[in-house]
Amino acid sequence: MIRSVVRGVGAETPRRIMNNDDFVGLVDTSDEWITQRTGIRQRHIASDDETTASLGEAAARKALAASGLTPADIDLIVLATSTPNNTFPATAVEIQQRLGMHHGFAFDLQAVCSGFLYALTTADLYIRGGSAKRVLVIGAETFSRILDWTDRTTCVLFGDGAGALVLEAQVGEGSVADQGILTTSLRSDGAHKEKLYVDGGPSTSGTVGKLRMEGREVFKHAVGMITDVVEAALGDAGVTADDLDWFVPHQANKRIIDASARKLGIAEEKVVVTVDRHGNTSAASVPLALAAAVADGRIKRGDLVLLEAMGGGFTWGAALVRW
Ligand code: UT7
Repeated sequence: MIRSVVRGVGAETPRRIMNNDDFVGLVDTSDEWITQRTGIRQRHIASDDETTASLGEAAARKALAASGLTPADIDLIVLATSTPNNTFPATAVEIQQRLGMHHGFAFDLQAVCSGFLYALTTADLYIRGGSAKRVLVIGAETFSRILDWTDRTTCVLFGDGAGALVLEAQVGEGSVADQGILTTSLRSDGAHKEKLYVDGGPSTSGTVGKLRMEGREVFKHAVGMITDVVEAALGDAGVTADDLDWFVPHQANKRIIDASARKLGIAEEKVVVTVDRHGNTSAASVPLALAAAVADGRIKRGDLVLLEAMGGGFTWGAALVRW
């Protein structure tokens, strides 16, 4: 059986860091409110010369280096983003060009904060279907460009960044001991589209628009949706929360992460948390957290790693990966 095995991971964050205190004076808020309600202490914000494409390219290059591969070895790029450089062409194609690739194919995929889980699932299907051997899966965002910087209920929550991993087709035995993606589970429900959206677009306003969110409403649904999709993924693979080595959740709010882990019965020391330093980076959040936990030696070869995300749409998803 063909498995999609993670060869390497990479991350990039913009140079500029904005602390909670930097918002005081911009909007009516405080470090205390942001820290207590979200767990966020700082986030990276892109400068004019930093874009979704440049951050995505940098993360991709690091993932390739960690894999011992070059762009010539890649046959597909899937970029998860809701903040593309342009309405079209796909930012994935721009990253392809930046990497000097003239072969293979590249496309963007948009599922907001769940984008990386959707991209991972898509890449896994191309690999297991035999249409691709090595895939760059990237989550890259510049949410700072779609924030309303006068709205304290949203502007303090998000940050910019990119994470990438290289998946490679390898033969496994079809058991849960195999290395690679063991199972994925995706969901969406457009009934909730008004709770988290951008109030512009090419086909409506003709503008880019700004992010709008009913935070409390999103919060109310988040834990239930996350635990449902995680339980589906665990059940599918025939494992339990006790079998997990690491839980790498979407990094939107520390309270959502804690409540989800508690409900799933995952011990606190197995949870990777980076929301304190990155804020919510949407599709980049899971690969940024993965890259951090691989870089500091927590996630090692053979570990069983659970990924999940939930966001606008609503969309939500989970993946179980043997590292
Ligand atoms: O990644 C996609 C998914 N997105 C999420 O997962 C976000 C989910 N939602 C959340 O994380 C939380 O709901 C928030 C962090 C957005 C808000 O936390 P909350 O505990 O749900 O607060 P709230 O919305 O109920 O607001 C409580 C109070 C309100 O004041 P009143 O109405 O009680 O007087 C807000 O106006 O806090 C006020 N508030 C703020 N105060 C200081 C809202 N934003 C701020 C702020 N600084 N930045």
